[in-house]
Amino acid sequence: MDPEPLTEGGPATGRIWASRKAGRSGVVTNHRDLIEEPEGFSTKNLFFKSKGLYLYETDILHFDSIPDKSLDLTITSPPYNVDISYEGYKDSLPYDEYLDFSASWLTRCLALSRPTGRLCLNIPLDKNKDGQQSVYADLTSVAKRVGWKYHATIIWNEQNISRRTAWGSWLSASAPFVIAPVETIGVFYKDAWKREGGSGVSDISRDEFMDWTNAMWTFGGESATRIGHPAPFPLELPTRCIKLFSFVGDRVFDPFCGSGSTLVSCLQTGRLGIGVEMVDSYCRLAVDRIKASGLYQTKFE
Ligand SMILES: C[S@@+](CC[C@H](N)C(=O)[O-])C[C@H]1O[C@@H](n2cnc3c(N)ncnc32)[C@H](O)[C@@H]1O
Repeated sequence: MDPEPLTEGGPATGRIWASRKAGRSGVVTNHRDLIEEPEGFSTKNLFFKSKGLYLYETDILHFDSIPDKSLDLTITSPPYNVDISYEGYKDSLPYDEYLDFSASWLTRCLALSRPTGRLCLNIPLDKNKDGQQSVYADLTSVAKRVGWKYHATIIWNEQNISRRTAWGSWLSASAPFVIAPVETIGVFYKDAWKREGGSGVSDISRDEFMDWTNAMWTFGGESATRIGHPAPFPLELPTRCIKLFSFVGDRVFDPFCGSGSTLVSCLQTGRLGIGVEMVDSYCRLAVDRIKASGLYQTKFE
């Protein structure tokens, strides 16, 4: 039988490909049926809950509403420390403090992850504003220092040439600026890369698998104006990570949930989504996006 995946944002029911290795039947009637109701999730700081989606309004550093060793996959784009004007959050820490903050939340996420838990960390390659910094290299070092094991790096080619506004010394070797218009997705894991447990059901097509395991991803970014959040990532990013690195029904976490993109992807792909966001207006935006996604009504209401 050839793989026959659900399309993104596709119907609520359908046939999905089940991994032969997992020895499953290959056919399920509703991919959300594979989500199991979690035990031990508390209502502390719970902003929104619907079947399979949990959004907590709190600081990730103090987040203790779910048990440790709960998560299969964390996908996140943390604050980049580039002075973005978030509501209620200052995005311009001294660089040392930013790295300390990064170590703290990466440690928290590690504790929340299962032994086979994975992390997809979306960060820029470099920081160019207010002094150059090798953000990707530094956060990768921090992640490894706190205990995450390194697997690979995906280059996300955003094709954003509008960033090329600062040339430094134009047509002179005096002090030219060199800028790569790409971001990175560092892929890490806790103890073991090979997955055990879970449904064993994958919903990725042959073409997607071939395309996405080539770690150069090319697709555009998301419009801050369209979404109403200063730094959203496009749904394409969490959706690719979810389908490539998790089974249907897995628990997927975003500790910097923002406008809720990761939760919307979870809704579309049949994963249990857990988000943390400290700004109230972004939590409200995330719920609006979930409810507007079209899938919400057919599945929950
Ligand atoms: C880069 S944005 C994430 C955007 C998200 N990926 C999306 O698609 O909308 C980072 C988010 O982290 C939130 N944030 C910053 N510090 C936080 C913290 N300590 N705990 C939880 N959320 C935090 C900010 O309010 C912001 O919404």
